[in-house]
Amino acid sequence: MKKLIHPITVALFVIIFVLSLPFILPKKQIIKYSDDELRKAALSTNMLAVPKTYEALLKVIDNPENPMSAQKIALGRKLFFDPLLSRHKDISCASCHILEEGGDDNLPTAIGDEGKANPSHLNAPTVLNAALAKRQFWDGNAKDVEEQAGGPIQAHFEMNMTPVEIEERLKNTPEYVTKFEKVFDKISFENVRKAIGAYERTLLTYGAYDKFLDGDNNAINEKAKKGMTIFLTKGCKGCHTGMSVGGQSLQKFPLRPDARIHDFRPNLEINPDLKIIDKRFPFENRGGFLGKDGNQIFRVPILRNITKTSPYFHNGSIKDIEDAVTIMGRHQLGLNFTKEEIEEIVEFLKTLEGELVDYKIVD
Ligand code: HEC
Ligand code: HEC
Repeated sequence: MKKLIHPITVALFVIIFVLSLPFILPKKQIIKYSDDELRKAALSTNMLAVPKTYEALLKVIDNPENPMSAQKIALGRKLFFDPLLSRHKDISCASCHILEEGGDDNLPTAIGDEGKANPSHLNAPTVLNAALAKRQFWDGNAKDVEEQAGGPIQAHFEMNMTPVEIEERLKNTPEYVTKFEKVFDKISFENVRKAIGAYERTLLTYGAYDKFLDGDNNAINEKAKKGMTIFLTKGCKGCHTGMSVGGQSLQKFPLRPDARIHDFRPNLEINPDLKIIDKRFPFENRGGFLGKDGNQIFRVPILRNITKTSPYFHNGSIKDIEDAVTIMGRHQLGLNFTKEEIEEIVEFLKTLEGELVDYKIVD
């Protein structure tokens, strides 16, 4: 039979084809956004800047069941900082939620009444921007900041009081009697929660990220823009979203438990004796907390001010933000980020630091 094409020609074609593959195949997709595109990618999915005026704040955050007023907010602020709400008059909300330090205590686990540690080894999340979240607590068990505020006052390892004791103490403090009468008509535990909640609704922070969203291209650097692009296009945004960059849903963690941390990051310190939940989960099961209904489902944390609130995760088991991000990539997205990508994401996370907005509160 007559050959149509000489085998050497075929071989040559094959070689040329193989050699040209890198040029023909699409490159690993690296999305490159212009500043405007990047901003739009965030804004179009409701990742909005924090409002700068009280009027705009009310539109975002007012609770119809607990309308804001200047006097209510002032009363809530007073209660937030008042150790009178704790059994031994030595702990206030602000003891564990230090506003100047990212709104948390920077401890792996919270320490409350008589030095008692949180029995589930829970890490105190930030109160800053917490009012923007759809649920409160690591397991999402409280619906809003008003409901949440009743928890720590009563928890025996936090402020260790009962509603009746709180009401009695406040009724014996003339200043509070007058203030409560003006704002509500009487002192009650429910009104304590409401006043604190109203104050917390003003604890929003504005920073470089907001400036960028508000149109200032120079507010964040090129590296942070790369990190923000990864954040928006590789899936972080799927969970950490909304104005608070988190807090909008409950999600499984780890989503991909079979990915073992030391497979991809040999220098991440892991204690070989860890009592891990199961061999594939890279965290020490400190405190035994397993999220909502014990199903490893957690309220997605708020990432605003995250670089100020180490240590990380519900049990405060991870100290460095780079490791937290690495774990997220691997266990939530199935991605092994390069060192450079991790640095870029962290540079972006730094832009989420902000200062409390000084709202001019008027009625
Ligand atoms: C002893 C330390 C401690 C004290 C005191 C304390 N908290 Fe907390 N706070 C925590 C811890 C720990 C959590 C997480 C608990 C959980 O998820 O079950 C938390 C959670 C919160 C949250 C939820 C944030 C979120 O994003 O889910 C808010 C809001 C909050 N606290 C406000 C307050 C207020 C208001 C007070 C005072 C009435 C207060 N805290 C007193 C330690 C404390
Ligand atoms: C599928 C949902 C999901 C995705 C996707 C996801 N996260 Fe998370 N993230 C969570 C949950 C849930 C937690 C809390 C886990 C815990 O503490 O047990 C968390 C925790 C974190 C923390 C620690 C927060 C704290 O307060 O301790 C950081 C930082 C973080 N995520 C960043 C990222 C980054 C960056 C990405 C993208 C690379 C990402 N996450 C992708 C759900 C997600």
